[in-house]
Amino acid sequence: MNKAEKLAALFGEMALNDLPLFDQSPLIPGEGNPDATVLFIGEAGGFHESVKRRPFVGRAGQLLNTALSDNDMVRSDVWITNVVKARPPKNRDPLPEEIEKYRPYLEREIAIVKPRIIATLGRFAMNWFLPEAQISRSHGYALSQPSGQIIFPLYHPAAALRNGNMMKSFLEDFERLAILAKGESTLSPEREPEAENGNDQEPIQATLF
Ligand code: URA
Repeated sequence: MNKAEKLAALFGEMALNDLPLFDQSPLIPGEGNPDATVLFIGEAGGFHESVKRRPFVGRAGQLLNTALSDNDMVRSDVWITNVVKARPPKNRDPLPEEIEKYRPYLEREIAIVKPRIIATLGRFAMNWFLPEAQISRSHGYALSQPSGQIIFPLYHPAAALRNGNMMKSFLEDFERLAILAKGESTLSPEREPEAENGNDQEPIQATLF
């Protein structure tokens, strides 16, 4: 089987399983280029995603599309998916037990696509990899995993749409991500981590490129 077939088989298997939220939402599979260098992970589908059964097709998705095209990237070049592949009721946050039930499927999805960079959108996707990390400190940093993959946390586009400072950071971070994706970055992170509500936890070590 090629990657596209393996991914289709994975989502077919998910659809047949009794996963959380399937009693109230359809499966919202990942989509894009199975050979992508960059894999984006959001938190869970919303209303538009559950209607179209596609990730990031509402307002947050429009911002993601714009950020991609502003950086000479296109949606069909990347892979886009969610931690929870369904819509929680009233768009509430996904519950820890829901995230855990979906975990093996996201692990398999990542193992099939094998991206060089995993760009997490929002804290749920970031904490999936880095449980202790705080997004206000870690966004825009490239963090190497033992697997050799790079985790690149971004603010969630929906949060960016609600907050001008987060929008600024989201767009700046996205430029850094695009440079990294094109293999042009030899830079260490240039900015100081921002304080998280007076919490003086050590910043996460960023990897040099
Ligand atoms: N927000 C997400 O986290 N995922 C989507 O697919 C849409 C909005």
